[in-house]
Order: sequence, then C-alpha cells, then structure tokens
Amino acid sequence: MATNKSAGLQDIIAGETAISTVGKEGVGLTYRGYSIEDLAEKSTFEQVAFLLIDGHLPNASELETYQERLVRHRELPLDLKTILEQLPGNTHPMDVLRTGCSALGNLEPEGAAHNAVSIAHRLVACFGSILLYWHRFCASGERIELTSDEKTVAGHFLRLLHGGMPVPEHRRMLDVSLILYAEHEFNASTFTARVIASTLSDFYSAVTGAIGALRGPLHGGANEMAMELISRFKTSDDAEKGVLQMLAKKEKIMGFGHRIYKVADPRSDIIKDWARKLCESADRMELFNIAERIEQVIRREKKLFPNLDFYSAVTYHLAGLPTPMFTPLFVFARIAGWAAHILEQRADNRLIRPAAEYTGPAPRPYVPIAQR
Ligand code: COA
Repeated sequence: MATNKSAGLQDIIAGETAISTVGKEGVGLTYRGYSIEDLAEKSTFEQVAFLLIDGHLPNASELETYQERLVRHRELPLDLKTILEQLPGNTHPMDVLRTGCSALGNLEPEGAAHNAVSIAHRLVACFGSILLYWHRFCASGERIELTSDEKTVAGHFLRLLHGGMPVPEHRRMLDVSLILYAEHEFNASTFTARVIASTLSDFYSAVTGAIGALRGPLHGGANEMAMELISRFKTSDDAEKGVLQMLAKKEKIMGFGHRIYKVADPRSDIIKDWARKLCESADRMELFNIAERIEQVIRREKKLFPNLDFYSAVTYHLAGLPTPMFTPLFVFARIAGWAAHILEQRADNRLIRPAAEYTGPAPRPYVPIAQR
C-alpha cells in the first residue's frame, strides 16, 4: 500500500490551467469562468465544446457554422471503416474508440492538411460514428449511413444507435450529460493527454492515451460498474442489504467518492434530477428508488456522496443505451476538455517529467551469472 505523502499525486499542483476550476470552496465546477449549473441549464454541448476548444462562447453565427462543420465531419474514411469491420464483436467499445482514434491518426495525420484545432473538432464530430459504425456492422452486418441532418452530437448518437428520430427528452438529457462530462481539470485522462502532449508527440497519440486512462473503473469506467451494481437489486430493501454486505467486505462502491470534491459533486444533483424525470416518464420509479437507497446507505455508512457517474448510469439505461457504451459517451464529451488541455500544454510547453523517491536496494556489486 502506498504510504508516500504524494501517492497518487494527491494535493500536488502539477501545472497551471485557465480552462476550468474543480472543487474551489469544496464544491464548484466552472468551465472558463461559467458555472456548470448555468451551462447545463442554458447551453448545449456544441456551445460548450466550442467554449473549451476556442476559448469563448460562440455567437449565433459562429454556432451555426460550427454545427454545420460538425455535421460535415461525421463521415469516416473508407479505410477506417475497413479497419473497424475487422474488430471482433466482443471488443469493448472503449477499445474500439482507442483503435479508431489511433487509426484515424494514420489516415488524417496531424500536419499541414490537419492542424490541431481541426483534429479536435473532427474528433468531437466523429467519435459517435466510429463506435456505431462498428457496433451496427457487428450486430447485423449493416454498413450504416453516418450522415444526417441531425444537428446535435447527442441526437446523432441516438439516431445511429436506435435508428429513427430520438425521443426529445432523451436527446436533451444526453446533451446535458455531455456538458457535465466535457471537462474536469487535471483528472487522470486529461493529465495523461498533457503528459503525452508535453513530449511534443502528435494530437492523436495524446487522445489515444487519454482514452486508455479513462477506460479504468476508478475513472470513466465507474459509470458501467454503477449500472452493474444497481441492476443487481429488485427492491430498495435488497439494495440496502446488498450494499451493507459489500461495505462489510470493504468493497468499493463505484460511482461514489472523489479525489477533489470533499462535500458533493456539483454535477451529481443535475444528473440525478434527470434520472428522476426519466424514471417518472418511463414509469420506472423502482429503479430510481433503488439508486437513491444506495446513495442513502453510502452517505450514512461512509459519509461519501455520489459522483457524476452514479446517476448517469440510470439516465443512460433509461435512454436505452447498452451499458458498455456508457464510458464511450464520456469520451464523446471529454474530447473537448482533452483538446483544450493539449492546446494549452503546447502553448506553454515544458516536458512533464516528475521525480521519484527511490526505495530499492543500496548500490551493490554486479553478480556474474555463474555465481547467482
Ligand atoms: N466506496 C467505498 N469506499 C470508498 C469509496 C467508494 N466508492 N471511495 C473512497 N472510499 C474510501 C476508501 O476505501 C478509503 O478508505 P480507507 O481510508 O478506510 O482505506 C478512503 O475512502 C479514501 O479512498 P481512496 O480510494 O484512497 O481515495 P482517492 O482520493 O484515492 O480515490 C476515487 C478517489 C474516486 C478513486 C475513489 O473515491 C473511488 O475509487 N471511487 C469509486 C470509483 C469511482 O466512482 N470513480 C469515478 C470518479 S469520478
């Protein structure tokens, strides 16, 4: 077990950023000075992606141009489709995105034809296409059409997944969820992207590495594990009993706790309201009650609060998303934050290379192989 004071780089200020604040006064979250509450209520994911990558909220004509650009960039090169068709049907969707991003880096490499900002927007536009081209091809052999007149990233995803027009409530929930997931300062995947960018590597390498970091259950993978937990129980009483047993065995409950927030995750109440709303509309209040009972037990027993991943799992489930696509949704959003951080790192770069405290053997003479 790590005993070192800087284990996990906790409380270490590892650089400067002008992109977001997390947990100032214990609770808040802002993107370029705007509160997450205002952005979730009044904005759209496309405006937030523009804000993060380009640095300011778009005016009406900038937004229109940006949305048209995203719509144009949804199509994938034929060679990428061919690669996606080779991936086994049981591949985890996060691995599909990791491979898809890396492959696109070969087909549209960063350079004179594709600069960093254009790659950032290209990835915002096409991650949904990459995942769902593969998914629908594996499920039914269908080579789906990736373009449509749908203007939003959320709606594009839902249309490719289910076919037909998305339920407006699901589309807006997903849009809000993408806003909430878009950026979070020096979290593990963003820091990974910055470390890679700091070596002067290319944009795709930084994003591919970030996807790998996000995949783990202590980071983005927690939303899938939270769903797995919630679906184990048929009633709230079952949930209370089951969670108490897990805590007695010192098991971690995914979707709870946070490295930076000490009092609450400001994103959780927003997505919890959506979970309640969707459960009411679908007449699935028992699902909400189970989730809420789990929250109550963890608060009472461990003084821990739900993070964004916990109630996101409920909302995604109700919108008909397969659980293995929960963490990919996080990628569709966080690409905006990763891109902003890669650009910021490059603008004032110094190689990120910390030091380690050595705990190995003292210097000793080399032992020839015959004497070992
Ligand atoms: N369930 C049960 N106990 C938890 C817990 C959880 N979700 N999160 C933290 N704890 C407990 C730990 O067991 C530890 O207890 P101990 O001191 O008695 O050993 C203590 O709280 C500190 O936890 P630690 O894992 O060291 O905190 P951290 O700052 O390194 O980790 C997280 C932060 C987010 C990784 C951690 O809370 C966690 O693993 N949560 C579940 C995964 C998750 O939801 N990730 C998404 C984050 S947005």
